[in-house]
Amino acid sequence: MNIDPQLPAIDAGPFRARRERFIAHMNETGGGVAVLPTAPERARNRDTHYPYRFDSYFHYLTGFGEPEAVLVLVAGDEPRTILFCREKNEEREIWEGWRHGPEVARERFGFDEAAPIGEFDQRLPELLANQPALWCAFGYDAEWDARVLRALNTVRGNARTGVVPPHAVRDVRAELDEMRLVKDASEIAIMRRAAAISSAAHRRAMAATRPGRHEYEIEAELLHAFRSAGSQYPAYPSIVASGANACVLHYVSNDRRMEDGELLLIDAGCELDGYASDITRSFPVNGRFSPAQRDIYELVLSAQTDAKAAIRPGAHWNAPHEAAVRTLSQGLIDLNLLTGSLDEVIERGDYRRFYMHRTGHWLGRDVHDAGEYKANGEWRPLVPGMVLTVEPGCYIRPAPDVPQAFWNIGVRIEDDALVTDSGCEFLTDDAPRTVEAIEALMEEARDGAA
Ligand code: GLY
Ligand code: MN
Ligand code: MN
Repeated sequence: MNIDPQLPAIDAGPFRARRERFIAHMNETGGGVAVLPTAPERARNRDTHYPYRFDSYFHYLTGFGEPEAVLVLVAGDEPRTILFCREKNEEREIWEGWRHGPEVARERFGFDEAAPIGEFDQRLPELLANQPALWCAFGYDAEWDARVLRALNTVRGNARTGVVPPHAVRDVRAELDEMRLVKDASEIAIMRRAAAISSAAHRRAMAATRPGRHEYEIEAELLHAFRSAGSQYPAYPSIVASGANACVLHYVSNDRRMEDGELLLIDAGCELDGYASDITRSFPVNGRFSPAQRDIYELVLSAQTDAKAAIRPGAHWNAPHEAAVRTLSQGLIDLNLLTGSLDEVIERGDYRRFYMHRTGHWLGRDVHDAGEYKANGEWRPLVPGMVLTVEPGCYIRPAPDVPQAFWNIGVRIEDDALVTDSGCEFLTDDAPRTVEAIEALMEEARDGAA
């Protein structure tokens, strides 16, 4: 069968290469059969579902976005890749839309075999028979675990016929997380586009912000920019937090009226073709930083600059965090918000009163992406192709020992950093970051609206 020429061309090459690499790893470590399901569809209420999102591991190895699909990888001398997916179904396609069906899916995504998902439960025991190991990701979805265990027990139940069940159960995630940690060229290209869309969305949000508007109006600007540029979803719920809400780290109600003199903190990023972006900008609702807002903003920005300077191949994961903590701690001492020497403030952890989260996380298919942060008990060294966020912040709640001018100032500046051969590159530079650039953009927007 030939692929319908109307279907957009996809490059199955990177997905095939990842499958081959994973099978090579299975062969190096004893062989076996791996089974990876995509995510289930989830009901939201009655007969309405949450927007469907495939599983990140499954999609990393397949590029296949439909629900009800399972990838099977058979290692050994004659490795095989098999996709189980929904069959063509005219009635369902009238109601829900087009489906690949096994044959077109096999050809388009480059599997050795494809079969209807309805055959999976019957085929799995046959596939597991006489294999040394079952590779899967137990503990993520109880229904899936039970399904795989049933197949395993079916193989065990056939022991008297001479069939030997897998004696080892291996977790696919250990190796897949390592693979996902270092992005290949196709992944970096998508992440650049996702970062560009999100940067443009932040510019649009800044331009739309005025006293008297509501946080949700600004959220709507972000969503418009994401979707109209082809992003499928926000990568996580957008945080649009004005005034005191900026000091609530996971604020998502986004329903307050923004007032003159306040700051607005926006943490929002789109997902594009399965990859997240993650940007935070903090700026004055009226377009002009007050002196106290500017003090805190410049401090967080210099913490980010110092953290960025600590990112390069061979530097360890925690180096940017340590740099940000040093700069923030010294700045908070200089502003008389903390007392003691720099070493004391860091050692006692006093800075945590105003900076209580870490400076970043891996970024990729998941906004807090897969991958260990330590190896052999040590922070792992950075290597080119890793992507991480750099997101220092400072959050000042009202308190008697804090001058009132600082109350309710919440600032975070977050960018997405790609580790390069010589250092790092921010993918999100198009979202204005300096005081001057932010004030200029907002002034231009105000002039344009007047
Ligand atoms: N937006 C989630 C985070 O910054 O980690
Ligand atoms: Mn983040
Ligand atoms: Mn964020």
